[in-house]
Amino acid sequence: MPVYHTLGTIPHKRHTQFRKPDGTLYAEELVSTEGFSSLYSLVYHAYPPTIVKELGEPYSVEPKIAREKHLKHTSLIGFNIKPEDDYLKSRKPVLVNSDLHISLAAPRKSMTDYFYKNSQADEVIFIHVGSGTLKTGFGKIKFEYGDYLVIPRGTIYQLEFDNEDNRLFIVESFSPIRAPKRYRNEYGQLMEHSPYCERDIKRPTDLETIDQKGDFKILIKKQGLIYPYTYGTHPFDFVGWDGFHYPWAFSIHDFEPITGRVHQPPPVHQTFEGHNFVICSFVPRKFDYHPLSIPAPYNHSNVDSDEVLYYVDGDFMSRKSVVKGQITLHPGGIPHGPAPGSVEKSIGKEFTDELAVMIDPFRPLMLTEDAVNIEDGNYYKSWVI
Ligand SMILES: [Fe+2]
Repeated sequence: MPVYHTLGTIPHKRHTQFRKPDGTLYAEELVSTEGFSSLYSLVYHAYPPTIVKELGEPYSVEPKIAREKHLKHTSLIGFNIKPEDDYLKSRKPVLVNSDLHISLAAPRKSMTDYFYKNSQADEVIFIHVGSGTLKTGFGKIKFEYGDYLVIPRGTIYQLEFDNEDNRLFIVESFSPIRAPKRYRNEYGQLMEHSPYCERDIKRPTDLETIDQKGDFKILIKKQGLIYPYTYGTHPFDFVGWDGFHYPWAFSIHDFEPITGRVHQPPPVHQTFEGHNFVICSFVPRKFDYHPLSIPAPYNHSNVDSDEVLYYVDGDFMSRKSVVKGQITLHPGGIPHGPAPGSVEKSIGKEFTDELAVMIDPFRPLMLTEDAVNIEDGNYYKSWVI
């Protein structure tokens, strides 16, 4: 999770004169969240970050809701989302509520002619297929299969992909993404029982100051609209920064599973949380070792939360015939459980190589038109023997 980090050159004292070799001042910027009450960083720019040259017409990227209310177990075939050259156009919201939007994306091309800023949502981008570099003013983060990129709201970024075959699972959170409170001590440090620690967090490196004037297009998302701004200076003109507000990454492959003699409940898989939802990682692990244990999960009534599972890789013990990139949505209000036959089949198994991301939102999710287009309509009958 964010710990104090600094890159580049900063003055000895904050809010004091910090001059370029030519004697002019660098421009200090406080990037603060939740007013002045939460994480922040102090950034030093070659130029003020305020030089707007043009403001284009905003356009809507609001999800188009196809099914606002429903009570049906649903499955989406995520890899049926068509690849698109442009990163922003490739992002297809599928499951949304007022706390988070879940999108799928298969972008082919790196972002080269514009920058993007989500001004009101933290973004968690899970890299299912592909690799590349997240580029920001704070520095760069190399990413690969299995990484969760966590990009706090307000961060201007570009994604540079190594090739055209990319599959992303994206969560936009309208509240800060954090490690669960129970993993942290009173100072915020991740504790010994946490399934990951600060050493597993990838922080930005290789700060490169791009001191350029010109026309720089920044597409800024706010309240479902994209505002096309043209700024007169390159957004990656940071000469240095310090603080706690910056992008970071964590690999699902570094999540250390917690196992037990009998079936462990989903909270042991929790990785992050936002307001009204949690993100969990199901990773390869030893199965339960009580002599009479049943490794497959029990039937479950999630009385007041929805459950979203995004299948990444491996064999799923609770369900056969799932495919990579498939999403299941088990809405609160009706029980769900392992597929017929999978309980008996799981007995005696010692290991699972399943890999999945789970999201449990506490408010019901709506399905978008893009979701309905990739729906497996018969999934709700899949428990019929
Ligand atoms: Fe469940």
